[in-house]
Amino acid sequence: MISTHASASAKIILFGEHAVVYGQPAVAIPIQDVRTSAAISIDAAVADPVIEAKDLKIETTLSAASHPESIGHIIKTIQLIHDKIVKLPKSGWRLTIWSKIPIERGLGSSAATSIAIIRALTKAMMKVIAPRELINYSFELEKIHHGTPSGIDNTVISLEKPILFRKDREPSPIHPGSMFFIVGDTGISKKTGDVVAQVAAARNSNQEQFDRIFTQIGQIARDGALALKDGDAKKLGKLMDENQNLLQRIGVSSPELENLVNAATMRGALGAKLCGAGKGGCMVAVAKDGVTAENIAADLLKAGAVRSFTTKLK
Ligand code: PMV
Repeated sequence: MISTHASASAKIILFGEHAVVYGQPAVAIPIQDVRTSAAISIDAAVADPVIEAKDLKIETTLSAASHPESIGHIIKTIQLIHDKIVKLPKSGWRLTIWSKIPIERGLGSSAATSIAIIRALTKAMMKVIAPRELINYSFELEKIHHGTPSGIDNTVISLEKPILFRKDREPSPIHPGSMFFIVGDTGISKKTGDVVAQVAAARNSNQEQFDRIFTQIGQIARDGALALKDGDAKKLGKLMDENQNLLQRIGVSSPELENLVNAATMRGALGAKLCGAGKGGCMVAVAKDGVTAENIAADLLKAGAVRSFTTKLK
């Protein structure tokens, strides 16, 4: 084993959240400059591997009798690596994790955590892991975490490329034109699995209408993938607005999300929508240039966002 370091990006779902769970296509992009990092350090004095989650201010050992629930996902990731990818030494190393990705805000923090740890520990063991394997293992972990995920989060973060994603199919990479996005965080945490379950319950009592909406969202995602490839921000924005209307209709928006979507639109966004499971978490807007994007990010804070940032694709 060697001392090393790896990381994984955040992600934004541009089109197709929820509909993707029901087999429709969706579009997601990585946010390269917002990342979760994992470092492995060799330390001969360590008798039981030390796990340090810096942001949570937790330090424990791998074989401790019990672990705080907040690091359960980290422990499960290490167990999966040991059981299925590569046998890890029983002593002599520590894992430190820190992250710029807010938790439970629809930016892919759980998938980024698994993927950063898998990357770091396999690298430390000098074991090469193919992209497909990384997608599969991180999907197993997403299932433990979320119940019935589509696989979009762990796929886009494993590849760190914009993708058109469809459940149970190989993702298609999208080579995007230049685009400026703004993310605004409502500050409201939500559990993806809970929101997905609420949508499933609502669909049960009105399946025909929900499936019609999901089909419309699927078409928006296909059109959105083309707009992204063409660098057509105006078209992309229009499609984002349409997607947001349909997300409202399936009941996953919220007053706080609407407020930020409206604030972005008033300041000149070409389109805006919630991103991820909804009912809280983040929204995303697209702007025609970097200056407008910065202005929108500043206005989102004034409108009540707890954090906002811009990101440029390509
Ligand atoms: O909230 P997030 O970032 O975990 O995104 C969830 C996207 C959903 O379509 C709602 C669920 C899924 O598994 O695809």
